[in-house]
Order: sequence, then structure tokens, then C-alpha cells
Amino acid sequence: MKKYLVIGKPVDHSLSPQLHNYWIKINKINAIYDKKDLDDTELKDLIIDIKDKKINGVNVTVPYKKKIISYLDELSEEAKITESVNTIFMREDKLIGHNTDIKGFELSVRDTNFDIKKKTILILGAGGVVPSIIYALNKMEASQIIVSNRTKEKALYLKNLFKNITIVNWGEIPNFDMIINATSVGLKKYEDLKLDLSKAENKFFYDVIYNPSETNFLKLGKKFGNKTINGKMMFIYQAHLSFKIWHNVEPKINDEVIKIVS
Ligand code: ATR
Repeated sequence: MKKYLVIGKPVDHSLSPQLHNYWIKINKINAIYDKKDLDDTELKDLIIDIKDKKINGVNVTVPYKKKIISYLDELSEEAKITESVNTIFMREDKLIGHNTDIKGFELSVRDTNFDIKKKTILILGAGGVVPSIIYALNKMEASQIIVSNRTKEKALYLKNLFKNITIVNWGEIPNFDMIINATSVGLKKYEDLKLDLSKAENKFFYDVIYNPSETNFLKLGKKFGNKTINGKMMFIYQAHLSFKIWHNVEPKINDEVIKIVS
């Protein structure tokens, strides 16, 4: 039986096992997908287990998407540019790191029919998922990408990876067509970004968070008549792409699958 894992710290909240195990069952694949809370010091042993084929594929989440890179043999172009790996697989005895968050984000936006081309996008946050979002926005030809993060240095670091982004101070809200919450604020129901977004009207509010399904950020967006979407489809699409890489099967995204994440 093949074994797959999602690793992170914490990883308890991850719905990846439910999703992957559902698809494994439906497609009658002889495999199991588990989650593992790891310390930094355990990464090395994990890599040995993959090389020994005791583990056949790994999803990587916070805080290891960048840290894992030094242990891998090769990176896809997307993983290289974003310095972010969420999917590991073996190819001809080499450990390959890939990033399916990018395409996951892209597909989730395309589903909404919101055309990113020539739009101004404001991203809140500069954590692990933001390089993937910027990469996707560039691919979809956004005209301007503005990043605002509480800790400005982290936003400035992103400018090394993507020269075309603009950084603004936390609390500053420039004009935008679409605003993305990529911070962890909202994971707890009562949390609030405490930003003045009252001037936003007829805009697009995207929250990477999908649990809870409606953060205060999205509630606020809705209140002022904006279009809103949470991170559910991004999460499903990134998993879908990892599944395809590992099993060479394209699993179905249907109501049952969406229910797992809702
Ligand atoms: P990491 O920073 O380890 O990559 P993450 O969950 O990917 O973790 O990112 C958390 C993001 O939420 C960061 O952008 C963080 O801002 P800082 O860089 O200033 O820490 C942001 N964040 C977390 N709590 C916040 C808060 N109370 N207000 C504003 N931003 C917050």
C-alpha cells in the first residue's frame, strides 16, 4: 500500500487527508493519506523515508514550504521562483518539489469569471502562500500588485522575488479592484483585520481562509456590496493537482468533494 502525507506545524486542522482519502477510495487506489506534525529536526528523516519509498508523496504546509527546499534534488520552475513547495514526488530516484498552490489559486479565480487582466490587486499579508498568489496574478496579467504586511520587512523580501510589486504600509488602503486576505487573521472567528475598507464598493474580496467559511473580512466585503469568495476552491484545486501528479488519475470535483471542505 502506498503512503502519502501532509506535513506541517500545526497540521491538525488540515482537511487534506479527508479529501485525498475520499479520492483514493472512489478511484480504488491502494493507498492511504495521513497527516504528521513535524519539528524541523524531523525533516531529514522524512526525506530518508521518501527516498526509501516508505512514503510515496508529501504535501507541505506552514511553516515548511520554503524550509523543505534544501532537502530536495530538483524544483519545478514555479517552485523555484516562488521559493515554495507544497507537493513532493519521486521521479527517477530524484526528489522533486512542485507548487500546486499557484494553479489552485488561478483556477479558483477563473471559476468566478473575474478577469484579472489589467486589474489592480491588493494583497494583505506576506506569509507562505503569497509568492504563489503573486506568481498566479502575474500570469493572469494583473496590471498592478500591491502588498501590505504588518511586518514590512517581510513584504520587502517579496520584492526580491517579484520586482514588479509595490509595497505599502500596513493600514494604508490604496485603490484596488480586488483585495486578497492572505493573513492568518480570521482563522479564529472573532479575529478582525481592523482595516478601514468602508470605501470599497463593487470590488472583489478573496479570502484564502476557508474554515471558517465566512471570515469577518468577507462579511465586511459583503456588507458593502462587494463580490466575495473564500479559499475553498483554491484548496480543492491544489489537492486535485497533487493527486494527479502522484496517481496519474484526475479525480472528480463534485458536490461530495466540496462538502468535505465546507
Ligand atoms: P508565516 O508568516 O510563517 O509564513 P503564514 O500563516 O503564512 O505564516 O502568514 C501569516 C501572515 O498573517 C503574515 O503575513 C502575518 O503578518 P506578519 O508578517 O506581520 O507576522 C499575518 N498576520 C498574522 N497575525 C496578524 C495580525 N494580527 N494582524 C495583521 N497581520 C497578521
